[in-house]
Amino acid sequence: MVPIVCVTLKEYQKAKSIFDSCKELKFIPADLQEHLLAETIKSHKASAAVLGVDQYKDELYTALPKGGIILRFGVGHDGVDKKRATEAGLFVTNTPGALDDSVAEHAILLMGSLARQIPQHYSNMRSSQWQPSLGYELRGKNLLVVGCGKIGSKVASIASFGFGMKVIGYDTQPLNHKEASRFGFAQLIESLDEGIKQADFISLHIPSIPATRKFVSLKFLQMMKSSAYIINTSRGPIVDENALYDIISSGKIAGAGIDVFENEPYVPINTSKDLRNLPNVVLTPHVGSSTIEACDRMAECVIKNLVAYFQKNREQMDIVNKEILKVKK
Ligand code: GLV
Repeated sequence: MVPIVCVTLKEYQKAKSIFDSCKELKFIPADLQEHLLAETIKSHKASAAVLGVDQYKDELYTALPKGGIILRFGVGHDGVDKKRATEAGLFVTNTPGALDDSVAEHAILLMGSLARQIPQHYSNMRSSQWQPSLGYELRGKNLLVVGCGKIGSKVASIASFGFGMKVIGYDTQPLNHKEASRFGFAQLIESLDEGIKQADFISLHIPSIPATRKFVSLKFLQMMKSSAYIINTSRGPIVDENALYDIISSGKIAGAGIDVFENEPYVPINTSKDLRNLPNVVLTPHVGSSTIEACDRMAECVIKNLVAYFQKNREQMDIVNKEILKVKK
């Protein structure tokens, strides 16, 4: 019998043809709301569920049977409670590498949109206003990349080799300088404060974990040049959104390009500090990885993980809760 896999509707629609053409598995689209997803899992007696970026805190972990699997259609797994999953005897996997190009390109495009005020120009044109104004070249500007993993390194390559920016890298993990220069990093720094003070643009590429909550604090933002922009395509909770609103609205930094938010869909944490009311921000609805190419790769990687899971071929799986392997020996 072909195993049944529940997949949240949003993710199913992103790569429908790949899911539908898979002969080894039957994908059943399900609501992304946790209690409804749990109902679908139980009614099909499924042992596998494929999820997007949403938060899953409750019924999911009891709906799947012990030994089951939660598969992130994507890379960040902050929406999945790994401790709870491991306690429930569930594997958790993700799709490493599948979205790196798309997210890196999105970060660069947000940077370009800010430098040349593209959204403002478009909005003026639509209301029949011809209002040319001066932007900035990216060439020669300092870009601070915070988080020099795969996505941060791709951003560095495009910015450095493509646009001629001077890219400075910061990471909490030790970095290999020789490796980094291959990706176009001109410099790796140990002092984040120094990097912030020099930067014309800052691009964030760190995961959302308790230690990175509000990593971009008021203090961080106050160190930025008044002409500098910040770009976030990683996760909302790493930025203090109220502080970001205050610093932009008081003109202390030039603006921001934001794809990810504390609340998704976006709802301001404080209604009087709504980022949508600021002219010099470019906001997108968490679409960094939403390209046809990345979604196809994510679906293929999900299928690879599922096939390996059903064949009990653990080495081929992209397991993120490695502790489960000790439990399952
Ligand atoms: C998207 O943001 C992901 O982490 O999959």
